[in-house]
Amino acid sequence: MMKLPTPKFAFTRELKEALRATVKGELSFDVPMKSRTTIRVGGPADCIFAPADAEDLSAFIQMARKFRIPYDVVGAGSNLIVRDGGFRGVLLDLAPHFGELEKLDDRRIKAGAGVPLPTVVVRAKEWAMDGAEKVCGIPGQVGGSVAMNAGTADGEMSELIESIEIVDKNGKIKTLDREDVKFEYRSFGMDKGTVVTGATFKFEQGDAKAIAKKVDGSKQKRKETQPLDIPNAGCAFKNVRDPKSGKTRLSAGKVIDELGLKGVRVRGAQISDVHANFIVNVGEATAKDVLALLALVRDKVKDAHGVVLESEWRVIGEDAPQVERGASSPPAKKDE
Ligand code: EPU
Repeated sequence: MMKLPTPKFAFTRELKEALRATVKGELSFDVPMKSRTTIRVGGPADCIFAPADAEDLSAFIQMARKFRIPYDVVGAGSNLIVRDGGFRGVLLDLAPHFGELEKLDDRRIKAGAGVPLPTVVVRAKEWAMDGAEKVCGIPGQVGGSVAMNAGTADGEMSELIESIEIVDKNGKIKTLDREDVKFEYRSFGMDKGTVVTGATFKFEQGDAKAIAKKVDGSKQKRKETQPLDIPNAGCAFKNVRDPKSGKTRLSAGKVIDELGLKGVRVRGAQISDVHANFIVNVGEATAKDVLALLALVRDKVKDAHGVVLESEWRVIGEDAPQVERGASSPPAKKDE
């Protein structure tokens, strides 16, 4: 009889073997998340699993539920901070087997969760489908972008979705119409444990040249206003929106900039000089440095505006077991 996991999850040898016997896709163990996140911080994940198909993912989720194996999706690692002690459990990687993209007709594209969103934008542009500029510049994959209803100042994923495919927290494989998904600002309202496996996008038919102009224009704007060439995890904070109109009431980047915080560092983590809502890894930053800087910004904005900014990032995993560089909390200093 297999031992039940202790409250703090640990991968026993038996559990690893049971997992190997249950799933078809690839399993990798002790994977450093530094190499799988765009900001390049984070300790090892116990296991990364690339499900072979939806049925395989369903089998995994049912097993995870039974044995209380924590799991999450790694995606492109573009909006993700894994703490320095790593992640106990399984991170799902949908890129290897959910990477297909198909043109359904003149207005619709079907894409697997592991397709990079920029690929969808490029294809839409090539096929003269209008609207993709709304999500242009988002570096994530389709699955993560749906799950967080990723967006830009021009719009968000929910405006382009016709339906999504999921495996729910019980392992049920489902297709949901847009109306049945409770999209909100940076959320798709599903229970924790739900995994998006694909989406069908619906665009407007448009003029190829005009579409190319819009997409290229928003790409260029981002290049000029965001620190895209330095490791980062995308915008650190959500903008504060008016709940009724949905309009931005307080722009996180603007207020952080106005507080004079650009360039402030906690060791290798720095508030970008280019866009104040980005934290960049300028050296050997750890997750601890990045999160200390995030907290510092949140405190400063709270003191100045009485508003607690909410982060856009997913932060997972546990702290490193011991403090490596001194016991006190890191001093914040302005980079000279
Ligand atoms: N601003 C400053 N200083 C700065 C940065 C911005 O004053 O350092 C001002 C800008 O001048 C502008 C306002 O703040 O008046 C808003 O800035 P921006 O146009 O860059 O848009 P944003 O709201 O900061 C949003 C998304 C970005 C997306 C851009 C471009 C959020 C939280 N962020 O940024 O998404 O790329 O629009 O459309 O919604 C992300 O999700 O990771 C992300 C970066």
